[in-house]
Amino acid sequence: MNQPVMGGVAALLNVPAYIKQQKLINWVAEIAALTKPARIYWCDGSQEEYDRLCGEMVAAGTMKKLNQEKRPNSYLACSDPTDVARVEDRTFICSNSKEEAGPTNNWMAPADMRATLNPLFDGCMAGRTMYVVPFSMGPLGSPIAHIGVELSDSAYVAVNMRIMTRMGKAVYDVLGTDGEFVPCVHTVGAPLTAGQKDVAWPCNATKYIVHFPETREIWSYGSGYGGNALLGKKCFALRIASNMGHQAAAVDGKGWLAEHMLILGVESPEGKKHYVAAAFPSACGKTNFAMLIPPASFDGWKVTTIGDDIAWIKPGADGRLYAINPEAGYFGVAPGTNTRTNSNCMASLGSDTIFTNVALTDDGDIWWEGLTKEAPAHLIDWQGKDWTPASGTKAAHPNARFTVAATQNPVIDPAWDDPAGVPISAFIFGGRRSTTVPLVTEARNWVEGVYMAATMGSETTAAAAGQMGVVRRDPFAMLPFMGYNMSDYFQHWLNMGEKLGQLNAAALPKIYCVNWFRTDEQGHFVWPGFGDNMRVLKWMLERIEGKAGGIENIFGTTPRFGDLKWDGIPFSPEEFETITSIDKDAWREELKLHDELFAKLAYHLPTELTAVKAELEKRLAR
Ligand code: OXD
Ligand code: MN
Repeated sequence: MNQPVMGGVAALLNVPAYIKQQKLINWVAEIAALTKPARIYWCDGSQEEYDRLCGEMVAAGTMKKLNQEKRPNSYLACSDPTDVARVEDRTFICSNSKEEAGPTNNWMAPADMRATLNPLFDGCMAGRTMYVVPFSMGPLGSPIAHIGVELSDSAYVAVNMRIMTRMGKAVYDVLGTDGEFVPCVHTVGAPLTAGQKDVAWPCNATKYIVHFPETREIWSYGSGYGGNALLGKKCFALRIASNMGHQAAAVDGKGWLAEHMLILGVESPEGKKHYVAAAFPSACGKTNFAMLIPPASFDGWKVTTIGDDIAWIKPGADGRLYAINPEAGYFGVAPGTNTRTNSNCMASLGSDTIFTNVALTDDGDIWWEGLTKEAPAHLIDWQGKDWTPASGTKAAHPNARFTVAATQNPVIDPAWDDPAGVPISAFIFGGRRSTTVPLVTEARNWVEGVYMAATMGSETTAAAAGQMGVVRRDPFAMLPFMGYNMSDYFQHWLNMGEKLGQLNAAALPKIYCVNWFRTDEQGHFVWPGFGDNMRVLKWMLERIEGKAGGIENIFGTTPRFGDLKWDGIPFSPEEFETITSIDKDAWREELKLHDELFAKLAYHLPTELTAVKAELEKRLAR
């Protein structure tokens, strides 16, 4: 083992008396010996601690305190311009074999990766504080929740984790003397030599976001931003957890699901409530859907949020699927958010929010593209430069974020923190497709629903791909977040449906595929989206209750014009036709793309899916 720099790790450790787990203490000591921090700080999750760490970051220039009158207890952090987003090409699933990681993940043999990381982590925290951040993903003590401990040399990470997870002292009570936790090690990769002045946003050009599924470890090097650094989110709650849910099936015959899904509750005027979970790739309005405000004509309908990004879903003894939001906060994309597109979200951001990479107004508040129709005459942009509408650059980075506690959401669901989770009545899968995919389709059965989810795709924007309209296949919206072989994951979903079907076939959630983004010949979106998505949601709920009609087509059941409620919106049957029609030629081309996907995923690809495809081809040929 490497030797620590100053006085030995024991002198730094200073373990609080309330921590009773020797395995955890030993691990902290071992990582400290490797990374050689100047100090170790055990986070207790208190408000006092949060305020103090934010104050220290303000003094260090990492954050600015915003105008206390306009945006109480809120901060703006601006990152290094090279550290602004998740780094998918630097993200690795280091399972024992390449096949277990599957063709959609970067892979390196665990021993090789450890040999690569060890020298990088050796001394990487020199001159810095190592924060010990205990957190629960999910309500503390919930049978669906799991615990993690992140060791990070970033105070920005510590305060963001306090918002994004149930973080603090109480986690140690659940952990006890021998509870399990997922060890997460994070460094910005910028050790300080004695007397060296720090920069506002330390990071390293070399980045590694590494998962070891067999040992359930996460190691992150070089970035301080978002999903690269807040390891409870994508790394644990999706990549490691998806693996855990799959492995659990070998133990209890069912396992569980970790999904890139929002969870919302919908209550009808008669007081009938359902919960649905919905998966969308980035840039498909996921946060807006999670906080949907029904149109005025939907008097008495209520939509409430359980979660905006991730769902952990477990079968209950009654054969229903129960979901929790493993997170406790929202790390949402700011640009485009405004009181018209998402007034619930804007209301959440009124105070106690950390903004990252948005612009600063002259009166100490925040601004981003799309917040107001007219941009302010002068701003400080996310890179700290003077900005005016004539600058020709974005004032906020397109991936600028807010971090805010879920409890600030005015439409938070009363059951959002229920350890038992909420029963799921339907799964919704959606992508961004200008053609081909109709507004909404109900799968005829679980297997066809899994096929829809497995083959979903989204058109890339010019900014992301350099080429407009290229369809990127994003199965289950999980492409960047899968912790194991994608085809084994499809099989896990199929097995889950089969088991639940045996237990309680009537309670098996229905599966829907939606597309809010069909365009007309001029390339304009036809569907108004946002609150009007309620019209589709209502139809789904009525289908679940056997009350709404529809018509069967090649892929499943879709509503006829008269099956949706149109009060309060001038939407014509012709427009409806534009967004629901099925162009057989386009679908023949589409199925060729499914072929390409299946060829890539051939190893362990469930035969049920190729059988569904063969059936679709037959129906298309008729
Ligand atoms: C996110 C994402 O940040 O999906 O939630 O990229
Ligand atoms: Mn997401």
